Amino acid sequence: MSAWIEIGKIEDIPLRGARVLKTGNGDIAVFRSVDNRIFALQDQCPHRGGPLSQGLVHDWRVTCPLHGFVIELASGAAVEPDEGCAERYQVRIKGGVISLFLEAGLEKKARREKVTA
Ligand code: FES
Repeated sequence: MSAWIEIGKIEDIPLRGARVLKTGNGDIAVFRSVDNRIFALQDQCPHRGGPLSQGLVHDWRVTCPLHGFVIELASGAAVEPDEGCAERYQVRIKGGVISLFLEAGLEKKARREKVTA
């Protein structure tokens, strides 16, 4: 069953940084922009699978640490001229607590996890 899953607090993620949520079916990178917006993408660059959670967060984008693709945090899409898209997850914030909307299968293990470095 798909569900909203609480994964931690905004303060658990550094400004212009990211943490990883392990789901048992691939990791999810959870980003915090400098203006305290939270975004969640599959932790896999659409180029060759680099870990986006280890990339450089700037404005509302992240630069992949492997070959420099720039990815829009809101959509997961690569900025032109590059192509491809990382899967995006819906984010909800209530009282400073972050929840992600996860599909069936992903949410089971994620229920037991919190965002980690
Ligand atoms: S794997 Fe991300 S730019 Fe190549």
